Amino acid sequence: MTAQQNHEKQAAALEAVNLVKDGQVVGLGTGSTAEFAIREIAERGLRITGVPTSERSAKLAASLGIPLADINAVETIHLTIDGADEFTEELYLLKGGGGAFLREKIVAERSRQEIIIADSGKLVKQLGAFRLPIEVVPFAQRFVWQRLEMLGAVCRLREGFTTDEGNHVIDADFGLITEPAALAAELNGITGLVAHGLFIGLASMVIMGKGNEIVRFTR
Ligand code: 5RP
Repeated sequence: MTAQQNHEKQAAALEAVNLVKDGQVVGLGTGSTAEFAIREIAERGLRITGVPTSERSAKLAASLGIPLADINAVETIHLTIDGADEFTEELYLLKGGGGAFLREKIVAERSRQEIIIADSGKLVKQLGAFRLPIEVVPFAQRFVWQRLEMLGAVCRLREGFTTDEGNHVIDADFGLITEPAALAAELNGITGLVAHGLFIGLASMVIMGKGNEIVRFTR
């Protein structure tokens, strides 16, 4: 990661934390950009309850003294701040580089607002240069792999990696994804495929750091 990328990630994170208010339940994303936001929430002494999207983020937040709640114990999640591996101006996201996308998607679905923070290298015209992460139940791995190949993907198992839910991740290269919503619908129909990294219609806003500027994308 370059110093410029780091600077952009942190700037986006700080801007997003301006949206957080005391008393809110806040989804805590996963990855280096989300970690800037988690640290900033603690730094500002905001009195929130965090719902972490991974064990990794839970550990970080707890170490910083942020109170956490089980997702099943909260009525609502006011907003979530999370990163992405790629996004388009239509707010289609490709996520899952860190392997936390199942929990990230569940938290996003439950959030009133899903705020994505990113450096300028994440903005693309079309998703797919980054391999699409697919979380699969180990029992169904071969079956799902074959289905993905039938859809035109070149598959690679993320070796030695197990998700927080005890599943495996296949990184699938579909080339550039011209119709993300259609591909997402196909993937949703595969038995044993627990989640994929396409987030369609979930992001409320992307806050992107670009040099010393902040650029916002909204629906
Ligand atoms: C984890 C993710 C992350 O948000 C994504 O990988 C971005 O990571 P980073 O902020 O480190 O660039 O989807 O599952």
